[in-house]
Amino acid sequence: MPVVDPRFSILSEDFAAAPHRHFARLRERSPVHYEPEIDSYFLSRHQDVRRVLTDHDAFTTETLQVRAEPVMRGPVLAQMTGAEHTAKRKIVVRAFTGPALQDQIRAVHANAAELLTPFLPLGRIDLVNDFGKPLAVRVTLDVLGLDRNDWQQVSAWLGGVGEFITGIVLAPERRRHCLDCAEQLEAYLVPIIEQRRRHPGADLISKLCTAEFDGIAMSTRDVTALVINVLIAAVEPADKTLALLFKHLIDHPRQLARVRRDPTLLPAAIAETLRYTPPVQLIPRRAEQDAEFAGTAVPAGATVFCMIGAANRDPDAFTAPDAFDLHRPDLGTARSFTAAAQHLSFGTGLHQCPGAAFARAEIETVAALLLPLLDDVRFSPGFRYRETGLYTRGPAALSLDFAPVRDRVTDQADGRPPGHVR
Ligand code: HEM
Repeated sequence: MPVVDPRFSILSEDFAAAPHRHFARLRERSPVHYEPEIDSYFLSRHQDVRRVLTDHDAFTTETLQVRAEPVMRGPVLAQMTGAEHTAKRKIVVRAFTGPALQDQIRAVHANAAELLTPFLPLGRIDLVNDFGKPLAVRVTLDVLGLDRNDWQQVSAWLGGVGEFITGIVLAPERRRHCLDCAEQLEAYLVPIIEQRRRHPGADLISKLCTAEFDGIAMSTRDVTALVINVLIAAVEPADKTLALLFKHLIDHPRQLARVRRDPTLLPAAIAETLRYTPPVQLIPRRAEQDAEFAGTAVPAGATVFCMIGAANRDPDAFTAPDAFDLHRPDLGTARSFTAAAQHLSFGTGLHQCPGAAFARAEIETVAALLLPLLDDVRFSPGFRYRETGLYTRGPAALSLDFAPVRDRVTDQADGRPPGHVR
């Protein structure tokens, strides 16, 4: 029988308010924490999390059949293995890297400039709700070849899909709402997918429709699931990372000043933001056989949650892990966006995030645009910072004041950020 700690729960309000305050205690005293209410194990040590994510035979993504498939309207990439996984993953990777990336970065810049313009003369913006959320949805719609004007509707549906996947405990009425959102998103996508099948273009949906594996094309159900998979995977973590980057830089004015002086430090600031506050805090797996971690048994069939936030702050992996320091010698900026990353914010192993390079380029482009425009940036008077989410986590809002800008942002066709435009 697993040991239950009656004084502490990951499902408590206390934990939800500030998970990082509990990470050290978990790693040191309860590295295999059992939550009876959801019959699941939570692993917090870096080496244990890495082991789970890389031992694909012993720990599988079977949990997603219940957790994701109902709202993805079909099997998602993370559920697949073998040749099917490799082939479908390759299509997604190709759409977000290489020559395709250049066009996308131009679209990121154009979207960002358009969203930002009305706020510049005001000198105030909520970086999450006015900017980051719409930006991440619109950019992903562009890559997929969907109409960016549909972003509000798509965003509302994605909210339901995301809630279903990341809701640790979901009330029946919320569950129904989430399934309704998924059905409506599917109904929106299917006619578009069928149209792209007949008249393919250069977008990702067309590529998915025309791709073949062993001579077999993907069904509309397969394509729908992959499109929803990409939408949800690309949108949520990107807007959270952008807001967290600004939050940490504002909290650390000397580091902000250095990044302003030398924007080549931006990738290090983004990598450190991902390590320090990963937007994906939990990755679930199912144990396929009995296992043992730090002397504690985990039975076959158990759900295991990898605690990415706790693993990234393990002193065995990073020195002074509770400090935000973009100059930390063990950061390894270049490898932070690759399979060799020491932090686990993009996962690791077979299912490691295929969007990491795109995410870096997207956030770097947007931050390079924002930094010179948001002069004298600070939290708005009276603003109270609050993060939400156990599974994915980020600021509920980030209200910032800055020196008002009178002129419009020039939308440079080459995608390079403009200089100061006042
Ligand atoms: C800062 C931004 C991002 C973060 C922190 C992030 C994080 C993650 C993590 C932790 C996983 C692994 C899940 C697992 O092992 O079960 C993952 C997988 C995935 N991500 Fe990302 N992601 C980001 C951006 C993106 C973007 C922009 C895309 C767009 C293509 C994307 C697409 C995916 C897909 C399709 C998977 C599933 C891969 C597979 O199972 O083979 N992500 N991501």
